[in-house]
This record gives sequence, structure tokens and C-alpha cells, in this order.
Amino acid sequence: MNQPHSTPFDQQRPIPGVKNIIAVSSGKGGVGKSTVSVNLALALSKKNKVGLLDADIYGPSLPRLTGTLNQKPVISQDQKLEPLVRHNVKLMSIGFIVDEGAAVVWRGPMLFKAMDQFLRDVKWGELDYLIIDLPPGTGDVQLSLAQKVPVAGSVIVSTPQNIALADVKKAVDMWQRTGVPLLGLVENMAWMRNPANNEKIQLFPRGEMDSYLDAKGLPKLVQVPFDPSVGLAGEAGVPVVESHPQGEEAKAFFTLAERVRELVPS
Ligand SMILES: Nc1ncnc2c1ncn2[C@@H]1O[C@H](COP(=O)(O)OP(=O)(O)O)[C@@H](O)[C@H]1O
Ligand SMILES: [Mg+2]
Repeated sequence: MNQPHSTPFDQQRPIPGVKNIIAVSSGKGGVGKSTVSVNLALALSKKNKVGLLDADIYGPSLPRLTGTLNQKPVISQDQKLEPLVRHNVKLMSIGFIVDEGAAVVWRGPMLFKAMDQFLRDVKWGELDYLIIDLPPGTGDVQLSLAQKVPVAGSVIVSTPQNIALADVKKAVDMWQRTGVPLLGLVENMAWMRNPANNEKIQLFPRGEMDSYLDAKGLPKLVQVPFDPSVGLAGEAGVPVVESHPQGEEAKAFFTLAERVRELVPS
């Protein structure tokens, strides 16, 4: 029989116990999505119950960024995956299951199935926020997330220059089409401080990002400076919010957490 009103979003179901799902996305790779996801999760966890799902199945970064490389999640008696817990955040990543260096070659249906398992077969328990670190682009993973669960909001991460703007536009278009509310943009690597005199150095030229955001009515949630401590912290597996909480970068992540709490109250 014809079901004229059925859409792919009809299968959408909340995850019991999880109040708000926040997607962190970008059109481009390497702009700092995983860095933002991890630090946002840690900053939120100071006041809230938080989980972090690394849904970048092609390039999972969470195990390295959180110092959980080579750790395996336990499978409980009821055949669910127990998330790992680090820095007070519940973590799950394909990287806990597939070895670093091994390529994941899933597409279409397998991806949809894997997303199902990460969302429903992990013992997330009671969470105020589940942060989802997405792969770059506007593909199957993003789509399957939007179809499977109600996403409370998405944060887009970008660097300031025009070459990144084209990809921001695609990401904005995708979330609008899937009906996911856009919370705003995190401008990463907005500047760096000259170590000699502490003046700001513009790493990437500023382009039309701000006028685009204004035209779309999208807020810039926060600007995160570039600083070697962020990269070092990531390599060491202790994110900068934990390792340098007084630094300008960590403060930006704490501000981002506040903005998210305001826009998506728990
Ligand atoms: N604000 C920053 N300052 C310094 N290095 C950064 C900053 N943000 C990200 N990086 C570094 O840039 C690289 C890419 O970041 P990552 O979060 O993995 O990006 P993505 O997930 O978008 O591919 C990493 O080595 C990370 O440490
Ligand atoms: Mg990443």
C-alpha cells in the first residue's frame, strides 16, 4: 500500500536516557573537529553527564586524543558495548574495535548498521549530552545520524578563510535539509599569538565567513586560537581543557560549553 507521508526520518527514535545529541561537523577534514569535540565534551562534563561518540569511521581520532589507544570496550552479558570512561566522559569509537592503521571500507547499508550499533548497542546510560564527532563532508554517516536519532543541534567547525567557507556552506545546507537545528560556527585557528610580543598573528586570511554567517543568521559561537599546546595535548592524550585549563584555548572551549548549555539546556 502507498504510504504517501512516509519519509526516511520516520525511523527516528531517541536513545533512552540520552537527553541531547549534539553533532560536531565540518565540510573539511583537518579543521579541528575532533579537537573541538573532545574539548567540548570535557568542558561540558565539569557540570553535566557527557558521552562522546567518534563517528569518524574513516579516521577515528578519539583513542589517540583521549589516551585510550589499544583499549577494548567490554561486551556486557546482554551483548551491549560498555563505553570506556576517561576524564569523566563516556567514550566510544570504531578505533576501539578496528586497529589504528586498518582501513574501514564500509559504505551504505553497513554504515547505517554500524551507526545503529554505536547509538543503540552502547550502554550510554543517563547522559545530558552525547557529542558526536562526525567525519568531514556531507555523506552517509551524517545522513544516517539525522535519520536515526533526533539531533538537538549541530556545531560546525571551520578555519576562517574562504577556501573553508565553501565547505561550511555545504554543511549548513545539509543540516537545514535534514531539519537539524544549527547552533552556530566554531572558528578554529582564528589567530595565533606571536611568542615574542603576544600580538595576534592572522594565520589564515579572513574572507567572507562573517558576512555569510550574518546573512544566514548563524552565530559564531567562539573563536579558538591556534596554539602548539593544543596539538601537543592531543598527541599526549590529555586534551587542553584538562592539561592547560587556564590557557586562552581552553577558555574558548569552556565558553563554547556555556554557549551549548544556553542553546540546548539539559
Ligand atoms: N586550535 C588549534 N591549535 C593548534 N592545533 C590544532 C588546533 N585545532 C586543531 N589542531 C591540530 O590540527 C590537527 C587536525 O585537528 P583534528 O581535530 O584532528 O581535525 P579534524 O577532526 O577536523 O580532521 C591536529 O593535529 C590537531 O592537534
Ligand atoms: Mg577528526
